[in-house]
Amino acid sequence: MDDLIKGLNPKQREAVTAGDGPVLVVAGPGSGKTRVLTHRIAYLTLDRGITPRQIMAVTFTNKAAAEMRERVERLRGGHLDGLSIGTFHAICARLLRMEADFTPYTREFLIYDTDDQQSLMKQILQEVNLNERQFSPGRVLGAISALKNELIAPDDYQPHDYFGEIVARVYPVYQKALRDNNALDFDDLLMQTVLLLREHQGVRERYQARYVHVLIDEFQDTNTAQYELVRLIGAPQNNIFVVGDEDQGIYAFRGADYRNVLQFRKDYPQAQVVVLEQNYRSTQLILDAARAVIDKNQHRTPKALFTDRAGGALVTIYQAYNDVEEGDFVAGQIARMRQREGLKWSDFAVMYRTNAQSQPMEAAFVRAGIPYRLIGGVGFYKRREVRDLMAYLRLIHNPNDSVSFNRVVNVPGRGIGTKSLEQFNAWLNRDRLTLAEGLDAVANGTAAFTLSGKAGKGLQDFAVLLRDVRALAEAGNDLT
Ligand SMILES: Nc1ncnc2c1ncn2[C@@H]1O[C@H](COP(=O)(O)OP(=O)(O)O)[C@@H](O)[C@H]1O
Ligand SMILES: [Mg+2]
Repeated sequence: MDDLIKGLNPKQREAVTAGDGPVLVVAGPGSGKTRVLTHRIAYLTLDRGITPRQIMAVTFTNKAAAEMRERVERLRGGHLDGLSIGTFHAICARLLRMEADFTPYTREFLIYDTDDQQSLMKQILQEVNLNERQFSPGRVLGAISALKNELIAPDDYQPHDYFGEIVARVYPVYQKALRDNNALDFDDLLMQTVLLLREHQGVRERYQARYVHVLIDEFQDTNTAQYELVRLIGAPQNNIFVVGDEDQGIYAFRGADYRNVLQFRKDYPQAQVVVLEQNYRSTQLILDAARAVIDKNQHRTPKALFTDRAGGALVTIYQAYNDVEEGDFVAGQIARMRQREGLKWSDFAVMYRTNAQSQPMEAAFVRAGIPYRLIGGVGFYKRREVRDLMAYLRLIHNPNDSVSFNRVVNVPGRGIGTKSLEQFNAWLNRDRLTLAEGLDAVANGTAAFTLSGKAGKGLQDFAVLLRDVRALAEAGNDLT
């Protein structure tokens, strides 16, 4: 216990050792919020007789979850078997698989990412005769995502304008297509979990009983669906420990809403509130500059950040003419400071708001001969060949996955054009066959349907390939 709270300031200690009931910890960045959450998990398991299995801890990224688990294990000395720690999406995905019997999906459901969603939406817009140039798949998907984050199901949606009516038309079709493909999109993971818990009292009570303590990091970035999930699982004991920063509500585009912090105070008026004011990351000059901006926000808990780290470099604002000049300015500053102050390249970090902005910045670094490492960015799983291979694997796993089917049916080229695919789909509809059934029939030569020429042979080869590989996979064989 002493070890555990050593290295915490008095306010942090108060938060870590708070009693049962709701607790709200608010503070600016670098004030030790995540540290408090980590110590709280260790404290609950070491000093309060709570087992790791009884704790659900939510972080904002998978990486943060892994780090937090490791830190708690180091603090406690020992493994955390049964602890549920991860992002909302990861925790919901696991829960939905475990409780698949109570959902419209099977345990093997797929999770569609943005590209999968786009392909599916393109198919749907065609089906319902909407011009995708007029209503871009991205825009329609964005609207549906916003509805899901607000927990508005297709039946509950009341459109207010013309675009809304389009969305109201497409949303149920999209939702049905996902179900037919045994797939969920990211927002579904949350919404379907909330629906499951709302509708099935038995399931709800099981999780409420299991999770005696619920802890949330970066609470200011939660959306309505996530907040509802916390409320549901946290009840009835309401041992809900949230850590957040009202000044960091940067994810508004995902439906995140820092006003959840205010809502929390309204929903749990008895909540203990702890404000952390000491900052461990920045110098006073930086804190003052940040505060001068943030003070304009009227919906925040007043807090005056302070640090022991006086002085420091002044904050500079530079308004560039365009992105190219911006890149050159940043590259120039880095090269100069490195020389003048004897710094290493790894002493510098450049942040930007959207991924698209990395391009001019990278170009400037290349021009200036500055080595750099891109964090995040368009990752491995976004590369075309990787996505193709994933689509094959998914199709083997779930032969009804029409999005993956469309992606790879002609990769490598098998002479199966759009017309042939239309005929194939028309046949499936006419004979009321699922994609899996249709492909099986084609593979086995029992289909009451053929394509002529190259396309016919191509489709059959493809179907046979899928059938054979699936048989191998089911037998538990290695594919090599
Ligand atoms: N009481 C403390 N004493 C020393 N360092 C601390 C203390 N609290 C936090 N820190 C350090 O400050 C940094 C920021 O902490 P973190 O928990 O990530 O803050 P936040 O989540 O509020 O941004 C970390 O490097 C952490 O180890
Ligand atoms: Mg943090």
